This record gives sequence, structure tokens and C-alpha cells, in this order.
Amino acid sequence: MQVFHTISGLRDSLSGHRIQGQTIGFVPTMGNLHDGHLALINQAKQSNDIVVCSIFVNALQFGLNEDWDKYPRTYDSDCEKLRSMGCDYLFFPDDKEMYPNGLDTQSRVICPTMTDVLCGASRPGHFEGVTTVVSKLFNIVQPDEAIFGIKDYQQLAVIRRMAEDLCMPVKITSAPIHRETDGLAMSSRNSYITPEERPKVTVLKQVLEQIASQIEAGEQDFSALESEAKAVLGNQGFKVDYVTISNSKTLQPAAIDDPDITVLGAMFTESARLIDNISLKKK
Ligand code: PAJ
Repeated sequence: MQVFHTISGLRDSLSGHRIQGQTIGFVPTMGNLHDGHLALINQAKQSNDIVVCSIFVNALQFGLNEDWDKYPRTYDSDCEKLRSMGCDYLFFPDDKEMYPNGLDTQSRVICPTMTDVLCGASRPGHFEGVTTVVSKLFNIVQPDEAIFGIKDYQQLAVIRRMAEDLCMPVKITSAPIHRETDGLAMSSRNSYITPEERPKVTVLKQVLEQIASQIEAGEQDFSALESEAKAVLGNQGFKVDYVTISNSKTLQPAAIDDPDITVLGAMFTESARLIDNISLKKK
């Protein structure tokens, strides 16, 4: 695996592959790679000749009181994992390479409405940071396909919409949620969970599944389902950010006759914020 710190170095190498007609699959990450990330690399390898991964802890998508400075940075072990997966290129830029004019005057990509709800409501500016950096990365790598995890459902939906709205010539592909054996969705931020609260955090997945099965059984009172789930999380000692039954595409509150529904939840443990979701097709 070749590692590039500069945009020009990566571009030079990739243009050679493009001239030969090889396809490029891309997996953007913030590092601290776990099996969920590696499954994305594997998926990119299945359908492309060349796979590029990026690691960049993007300050633009972190709020002022968020964890940018303590976000786990594990470059050496990340490289080892990527090599073992057969990843061809790693793009590992620093802040100056990605934001040479600084953050404040950086041009931004805004995807309205979809980013005001769910995680966007409690993390103002977060998705603007995501869409901006992902657009930059797409322009740098110019991939044929980019893979994103369903674990970050809202992020995936926003990026799909951005690519569609801005006519970006890239196929956006989703990858299933990779979980620990007890069902907790893998996340770099799981390392913040304390040993005491760790056995209880699977309740998030459980309440979302419970809602999904009640909807499948014909329950139509969505707000009652949301309230019951929030009460269960609260009773376990977790502060609820949201539990919402949404239209899978627009992310607005689902209507009873919406065919594609996604149930999304976010809660705070003592020192972590956890998210999860489950999608269902109504018959
Ligand atoms: P990061 O949190 O590192 O995630 C990188 C990719 O891995 C995302 O597409 C995410 O959805 C996926 N992923 C994370 N955990 C997963 C799991 N348990 N199962 C499946 N996929 C999983 O998401 C970001 O970085 C950033 O916002 C980024 C898109 C790189 C922009 O900075």
C-alpha cells in the first residue's frame, strides 16, 4: 500500500490507473479503523480495480465542545489493517493540505432540510462539515464508486442527496452495519463507553428493533412508539437525543403510508454519544 500526504502525489498515481481504464473505489474515514471500516474496504475491492482509503479527522465537522482533540488517532495500526485488507492507496493529508486557506473562509457545501433534523439538530454545522470534506475528497480522488456505512444513516442519505443535486459522477454505495457480538454497532467512539455502562448500551438497538416490529405488526401511532422507546432508554439511565420514525429518503417524520421507513435513535452515555438505526419496508 502506498501512502500519500499530498493531493498532487495521489492524483498523479491515480491518473495512471484511470488512463488504463481501471475503476477506483473509495472509502473515506477518520481512522481508528475497526472491522466495520474494513468491511467497506472489502466491499470496495469486490467491485473496483483499485481501492483508495482516506484518513482525515475533519475539524470542520466537529462542534466547539466536541471531541476533535481527543478523537482516537491510531495511524500505525490503521496502516497495518489496511495493508492486510489489500488496500492499494491511503490518502493521509494534514489540515494544511485539506484547508490551506483555513477553516473560517473555506467554501462550503450545504444540503438543506435533511441536515436540520436528527443528528443535525443537536450537532449544528456537523453535516456541512461532512458534505464539504466529502466533496473535496471526491474531487481529489475522483472515484467511480464511494462506499459509506448504513451505521451513519443520515450521513449516507445526505451524501446521496448531495451527489444527486450536484451531479457528482460517483456511484454512492451503502454497506451494512457491522456489530459487536452483543449487537452494539461498531464505532470509533465506543472506546469512550465506561465498563459499567457497556453491558446496558445494547438497549438502543433493542428499542429500535421493537419499534420496527410493532410497525410491521400494523401499529400506526408513531409518536406513541417513539415516546415508549425514549422512556425505556431513560429508565436505563441514558439521556435521549432522539428516537424518530423517518421517511428513509427525506429523513422527515414518516407518514403512516410511507413505504420506506427508517427508525433512528441517538442517546448519550456518561461520555459517549451513540447512534443506531433500522430500516423496514412496509407491506
Ligand atoms: P468514520 O466515522 O471514520 O466512518 C467512516 C465510514 O465507516 C463511514 O461511511 C461510516 O458510516 C462507516 N462505518 C463506521 N462504523 C461502521 C459500522 N459499524 N458498520 C458499517 N460501517 C461503519 O463517517 C466518517 O468517518 C466521516 O464523517 C467521513 C465520511 C470520513 C467524513 O469526514
